[in-house]
Amino acid sequence: MSRVKVSAPGKLMLLGEHAVIYGKPCLVAAVDKRMEVEVEKADKDMIEAPEGMDLRFVKMVLKKFKRKYGKSGVKVITKNGFSSSYGFGSSAAVTVALSRALFELFKIKISKKELFDFSFKVVREVQGLGSGFDVAAAVYGGVSYFVKEGKKIEELRVRELPIVVGYTGVKVKTAEVVRQVAELKKKQPEKVEAWLEKVGVMVEKGRELLIKKKWQELGKLMSENQEILRRLGVSSQKLERLIGAAMEAGADGAKLSGAGKGDCIIALVGEENRKRVEEAIRMAGG
Ligand code: MEV
Repeated sequence: MSRVKVSAPGKLMLLGEHAVIYGKPCLVAAVDKRMEVEVEKADKDMIEAPEGMDLRFVKMVLKKFKRKYGKSGVKVITKNGFSSSYGFGSSAAVTVALSRALFELFKIKISKKELFDFSFKVVREVQGLGSGFDVAAAVYGGVSYFVKEGKKIEELRVRELPIVVGYTGVKVKTAEVVRQVAELKKKQPEKVEAWLEKVGVMVEKGRELLIKKKWQELGKLMSENQEILRRLGVSSQKLERLIGAAMEAGADGAKLSGAGKGDCIIALVGEENRKRVEEAIRMAGG
């Protein structure tokens, strides 16, 4: 009996989190950590998953696939290629991997954009929010310029990205942080709108710098983005500690990546300082 095995990568937000929810573009990169899914036809739907995995996404993919294509009866085996605690977008990666596996299993040809649209609907229906940038990273890999809900997805020709990732050890609920920003925007609409506007401009500039590999300038831009994230109230002491340590050890720029309040920081680092920055982040508790 035919079996299909598919994996999809996690993501990091390079520039533009939160602003992307309000229609500004963002820059997203896939990471080399992947979620794996295996499927084969079966008498009825069955799911084998690691303990603690949020199965809502798997179930919703199966439900939507059946509704749209009339196909069901699948055994699904999922494997964690990375922890769901990092904020690397494990739910989006599982959703994309399983969706792609089902299309292959039932020999239905689809484009990347169709795979994005199908997977994004699944994630939206389960989470009720989200720009979809994590789904784009899982579908397209590499680095992309992204506008919410996939209104624009441009794959950028970026082959290298000198980045160090530091994990705070703190798990955050994205929905809560997104809600806090929405509240701040309600209270101080003009201020927040102006900040988001600035982030949009940074992303356009960052897109050019990435393509031209102007790393130091890109690093500076990341730090400027972090300043706005601070004003939006989504940074934290722990994030700041890791960012400060990375900068002191010679990073060209550093910021939180994702919703904020926890998860990860990213630091742009030249090869000569990489080891020092990694060590400094560890020493600071990352
Ligand atoms: C969270 O990782 C990034 C946000 O912009 C939410 C989203 O784009 O879905 C805060």
